[in-house]
Amino acid sequence: MHCLKMANSIPFSQQLIRNAFQFQSNQLEKKVFGLNFTNPIGLGAGFDKNAQYLNELDALGFGFIEIGTVTPKAQNGNEKPRLFRLPHDKALINRMGFNNNGVNAAKENLARWNDSNTNISLSKMIVGGNIGKNKITPNEDAWQDYKICFNELFDEVDYFVVNVSSPNTPGLRALQEKDALRKIFSELQNDNIGKSNPKPLLLKIAPDLSNEQLDDIISLAFEINLSGLVVTNTTIDRSNLSSVSSKKSEAIGLGGLSGKPLFNRSSQVLAYLTRQIENNLAIISSGGIFTGEDAADRLNNGAALVQVWTGFVYEGPSIVKNICNYLSNQ
Ligand SMILES: Cc1cc2nc3c(=O)[nH]c(=O)nc-3n(C[C@H](O)[C@H](O)[C@H](O)COP(=O)(O)O)c2cc1C
Repeated sequence: MHCLKMANSIPFSQQLIRNAFQFQSNQLEKKVFGLNFTNPIGLGAGFDKNAQYLNELDALGFGFIEIGTVTPKAQNGNEKPRLFRLPHDKALINRMGFNNNGVNAAKENLARWNDSNTNISLSKMIVGGNIGKNKITPNEDAWQDYKICFNELFDEVDYFVVNVSSPNTPGLRALQEKDALRKIFSELQNDNIGKSNPKPLLLKIAPDLSNEQLDDIISLAFEINLSGLVVTNTTIDRSNLSSVSSKKSEAIGLGGLSGKPLFNRSSQVLAYLTRQIENNLAIISSGGIFTGEDAADRLNNGAALVQVWTGFVYEGPSIVKNICNYLSNQ
């Protein structure tokens, strides 16, 4: 990313990068929760935690980027090493722990990016703000952290995702319980509807929820008027790993698993939710997407948009163009 940043800072090479990696057609444009996406392929949260690489990721052709997870205060995250490759299974295990420079730093970077793009209106890359709580904030006060991040970033992002599904902040996933979610979202919606231009609010969920828990989330989503769901985060389930990766994963220890071994479970959760919500909520599908076939599978099965992350690591910078080419030939 540092090399890309340098190359992208020179107008001539920036143009070369754009020509090489962007999908140059408006065929895949899409309007979802009121926003215009140039294509439905996004980069999942956790890659650009501090909104430092928006120009570069835009040059690589992403239709949208989810920055964060951002917390009110800067925090270091867990000790290194905290990110591991399982190449045999095209997977990653991470226990980053929301390392980020805090909401003010993200806000400054976003403001700079928005200022430099004021002339580009319709074809601008969409930016979502993925928000979380600091590790030291107890769960009963978590809503305050979400509220701070929401209000600080409000003018700088296009939509918000409440992240309560990372396995790497102790106790965070307990916030997926209905009453805890109701508290967080009623606070955010209160602020949101008071604004002249309310922003879409989404919830990102874990793939490890039971159908009963998913039912709770659906009823709450309608009750609090969510615009959509991001389905899914990393899993704590390691049962799909090959024996090679399984051994390695035991040595690695705790962390969320992403990539190919997550594909089927993410698809199952998407299928379950799509059946229940019947197009009344937009779903961003995340989990194990590497190819055009993977993306088409999710888009044909109810997802409005898709996100890559581990696929970007293994497939490289052409991933968006490759997926877009496949989708446009369908
Ligand atoms: C190293 C790493 C860090 C991540 N950090 C975050 C994060 O901060 N917030 C979040 O909501 N998701 C985070 N994720 C989850 C991804 O956004 C994505 O939902 C997940 O990895 C599944 O997609 P994939 O199989 O395409 O990687 C992270 C994933 C990885 C691999």
